[in-house]
Amino acid sequence: MVSKKILKNKIKQAFPFLTPAYRFLKYGVRIMRWVPTYDEDDLITNHLCDFLEDDRFIKSLATTEKEGHLQLGYVVRWRLYTACWAADHAKNLDGDFVECGVAYGATSRMIMEYIGFKNISKKFYLLDTYEGLDERYLSQDERLRLVEYKKTGSYPYTSAMYPFVKKAFGSFPNVTIVKGAVPETLGQVKSEKIAYLHIDMNCTVPEIAAAEYFWPKMVKGAVMLLDDYGFAREQHDAFDKFAKERSIGILSLPTGQGLMIKP
Ligand SMILES: C[S@@+](CC[C@H](N)C(=O)[O-])C[C@H]1O[C@@H](n2cnc3c(N)ncnc32)[C@H](O)[C@@H]1O
Repeated sequence: MVSKKILKNKIKQAFPFLTPAYRFLKYGVRIMRWVPTYDEDDLITNHLCDFLEDDRFIKSLATTEKEGHLQLGYVVRWRLYTACWAADHAKNLDGDFVECGVAYGATSRMIMEYIGFKNISKKFYLLDTYEGLDERYLSQDERLRLVEYKKTGSYPYTSAMYPFVKKAFGSFPNVTIVKGAVPETLGQVKSEKIAYLHIDMNCTVPEIAAAEYFWPKMVKGAVMLLDDYGFAREQHDAFDKFAKERSIGILSLPTGQGLMIKP
């Protein structure tokens, strides 16, 4: 007696052209019947996502939006929520916060509000060129992507970011804005203990340089959140190598983020 699974595989092998139609029927019907709880940022699911109803999350997002940090015209709430979770965890550890790749400060402002960063005795370092990618560090693929971005006008990271961020975070006594290219600016982070590191520069060389620089300074339990992990093969594989060399794993999240905890 041939099992259903084996039979299915045999049919698939014999009639490969039927696979897309089968998928369409299977998932198309399911999707039509679905009432998604989340459909944003290339992520669609009907899993429970109570954070969307959470007061603290809603208020933090409202503040971030009201202050003009959400400049990209779309929201990535699950990614923001992951960062909030990571910050909430890290606030109880000894050590400061760092973000490499800040842009208009959406994620940073969000987590500051979420954990009440103003009243926490920690520093938050915000590193960015505040002028977009530094072309010296681009790989061939990243260079091609940049050409594409320029052609379609879809790279919104311009010199308008710096005055915005300076003004927006000016009232935070414990925030330090570091302008310039990573890795050159890493030494300006005057902290020997790091509890939270968010890396989001869309470029492998500075991202790995930041991870290598901060890893020895990260305290036990510190979080390293990678925004680009599931979005670009090159960054993904470079971080897998980084993690393997340190005998740890990266939690690959359905949002596209990667998460590492310092053992
Ligand atoms: C995707 S955006 C960051 C988004 C941000 N994390 C947020 O929450 O909205 C990427 C940023 O990385 C910055 N960047 C790219 N290469 C850099 C480098 N080598 N050094 C510092 N910043 C860099 C760009 O200027 C841009 O602002």
